[in-house]
Amino acid sequence: MRIFLDTAEVAEIRRYADWGVVDGVTTNPSLVARSGRVFEEVVAEICAIVDGPVSAEVTALDAAGMVAEGRRLAAIHPNVVVKVPLVPEGLKATAALRADGVDVNVTLCFSLPQALLAAKAGATYVSPFVGRLDDLGQDGMALIDEIVTALRAYPALDTQVLVASVRNAEHVRRAALLGADAVTLPPKVLEQLVAHELTRKGLEAFLADWNRRAGAAPDPAAPRGPGAPGGRS
Ligand code: E4P
Repeated sequence: MRIFLDTAEVAEIRRYADWGVVDGVTTNPSLVARSGRVFEEVVAEICAIVDGPVSAEVTALDAAGMVAEGRRLAAIHPNVVVKVPLVPEGLKATAALRADGVDVNVTLCFSLPQALLAAKAGATYVSPFVGRLDDLGQDGMALIDEIVTALRAYPALDTQVLVASVRNAEHVRRAALLGADAVTLPPKVLEQLVAHELTRKGLEAFLADWNRRAGAAPDPAAPRGPGAPGGRS
């Protein structure tokens, strides 16, 4: 399962790209607006950092406008994936952009029928928003199960399931078990994935044992004095 970062903050992308686990990036108009930067510049910088798909969303509402905007975005870098909304005009734009050889991520997907239409229009990726469904008291990951199962039954529909609106590590765990193609994660969820209390405690114990071994130089960072572990009381 590929891991994309869901942010338009270039500094964050640079930091997490160094982990060696980031396969791509997704942005949306809200994230780009929050960055306060020029859209095209942000997209170009992200493409220079991450060698993988970088989703950049159109804001036009009609198919012709989406296609024109999508072509401009795709010209920024070969890794740009044009993101279009799951509305009739977006489906038309998807078919046109795919005919040009441009990769398309159809976003704002909230149902299996919508996902099937995106796939039939030729979407490279479809992005179901699991967190926003959870917010309504529904089970967003149940939708991923449905879409993955249905698309597997129709191999001619060559569309990858990109789990979006991910809010926690449990979404990622279930996405992996369901065989989703990719997840896109806000940086804080990527941090949650690596963190485990037993890892932290285990590392602390290993280092404490290492520093106590015979002949070890005193650790200048270790607490000393009365009350400190191993110190005078
Ligand atoms: C990514 O493609 C989506 O735009 C993003 O995951 C939406 O996440 P949100 O529901 O947390 O805004």
